[in-house]
Amino acid sequence: GITRHYKFEIKLQNVTRLCHTKSIVTVNGKFPGPRIVAREGDRVLVKVVNHVQNNITLHWHGIRQLQSGWADGPAYITQCPMQTGQSYVYNFTITGQRGTLFWHAHISWLRSTLYGPIVILPKRNSSYPFAKPYKEVPIIFGEWWNADPEAVINQALQTGGGPNVSDAYTINGLPGPLYNCSAKDTFKLKVKPGKTYLLRLINAALNDELFFNIANHTFTVVDVDAVYVKPLDTDTLVIAPGQTTNVLLKTKPHFPNATFLMAARPYLTGLGTFDNSTTAGILEYEPSDSSLSINSSIKKLQLFKPVLPVLNDTSFVANFTNRLRSLATAEFPANVPQTVDKQFFFTVGLGTSPCPQNQTCQGPNGTKFSASVNNVSFAMPTTALLQAHFLGQANGVYTTDFPTNPPLHFNYTGTPPNNTLVTNGTKVVVLPFNTSVELVMQDTSILGAESHPLHLHGFNFFVVGQGFGNFDPNKDPANFNLVDPVERNTVGVPSGGWVAIRFFADNPGVWFMHCHLEVHTSWGLKMAWVVMDGKLPNQKLPPPPFDLPKC
Ligand code: C2O
Repeated sequence: GITRHYKFEIKLQNVTRLCHTKSIVTVNGKFPGPRIVAREGDRVLVKVVNHVQNNITLHWHGIRQLQSGWADGPAYITQCPMQTGQSYVYNFTITGQRGTLFWHAHISWLRSTLYGPIVILPKRNSSYPFAKPYKEVPIIFGEWWNADPEAVINQALQTGGGPNVSDAYTINGLPGPLYNCSAKDTFKLKVKPGKTYLLRLINAALNDELFFNIANHTFTVVDVDAVYVKPLDTDTLVIAPGQTTNVLLKTKPHFPNATFLMAARPYLTGLGTFDNSTTAGILEYEPSDSSLSINSSIKKLQLFKPVLPVLNDTSFVANFTNRLRSLATAEFPANVPQTVDKQFFFTVGLGTSPCPQNQTCQGPNGTKFSASVNNVSFAMPTTALLQAHFLGQANGVYTTDFPTNPPLHFNYTGTPPNNTLVTNGTKVVVLPFNTSVELVMQDTSILGAESHPLHLHGFNFFVVGQGFGNFDPNKDPANFNLVDPVERNTVGVPSGGWVAIRFFADNPGVWFMHCHLEVHTSWGLKMAWVVMDGKLPNQKLPPPPFDLPKC
């Protein structure tokens, strides 16, 4: 591979959406941020300079960071943030991955405006396991707040209640014509008839899983989370925050001047007030009729509006995710752990914690909203865990007693169980190098059923099973797929159900795992794994780079 250099200047930029202009934190003044393009095997150096008042870290979501944990980026997990005027070079090599990932800020809610695509092309002289597409197009979904998202989450944390929802979903930063005052801010994809386009879809939204489709068209899914999958035909996709999906879109043979709406809106299972609005863009066939303004083409479009599943269509989501399979060929094998060294059972979900004295809290029954894994709500440390681990100075920073199982036997009945007590702590699980791990995650649904897209840093894992209701350790493992399960970095723990994953802990360092719904992360649905060094030199965490920011 070659080395690719990028320079990311973090600076403020005025941006207008929904007729509302505000100053937002950007990379190089761009929103969404710049695209990183590399081939599998390349080294990527991103020099980040922080010119804003906020503390900043960036994360290269889904990049395995083999032996480069110092470049992973979650604040206070692998690094202290860059303060105003500071810079840091993220230095990593892309190994064994090809497809689409994305980068985003990994501190507070700054990823609402700091995000952009990572396009990983196949190695030089190797090709896709499908016909070469005519064109490739990144499509990144996001959310837009007229308010400052930092103020939104800070206020929610202070009052103990839920944060305000965003004002719009966006496609490549643009809300689209179904929102007021937004027709001119519409993503338009011009296509030629009879061609195959590779759409690189990324869900960078903060708090919602999304359905996506294009009127009168179908997709073939070929890659998720930068791993090839067996081609899967569908007219609608579901994509959770943190997930990426490459699809082939075949355009129709003869369709001059036609325009079709593409649309995305949330899949909602949870509690609270949600925004069920829809972001839309336009697929336009060439030669285009330039006499049509976007407004008149929307009118003309009524026939070509997509039909999305209903907001709470959990069975669509389960069917879609159940059908995804690894390619599992000789060239792209699925290295599924066939035996397990260590088993974990984690309950994940929302809960409440007592309201501090002399405060009134807006959570359920006057409590504070919180969220936890095995009833531990993760407390952010004030120094980075990876440094503490590397220097052998865990004392006072974290403890290694993260529970392997929930504190009380968990039984999901659809009504609140009695073990909702949340404790706060900075607890981790320590794994010897190359442990074969099986982790079952069960949604507790204490405050109403809710799907949680769980993201693991530093690894891909295999999704060997999933189901509704209680996981049954005596029956369910018999049905695990150990042949061609989908391999990914973010998986939805189904609402009122469970998911089982397996992976080899072959990457030394400290690795964050959290719900990629940002509000749940803020409430504590997060934990960390410490993977010890192996014996061989290429199984050890190298020392930190000289420019690693200090706390
Ligand atoms: Cu995309 Cu820890 O995040």
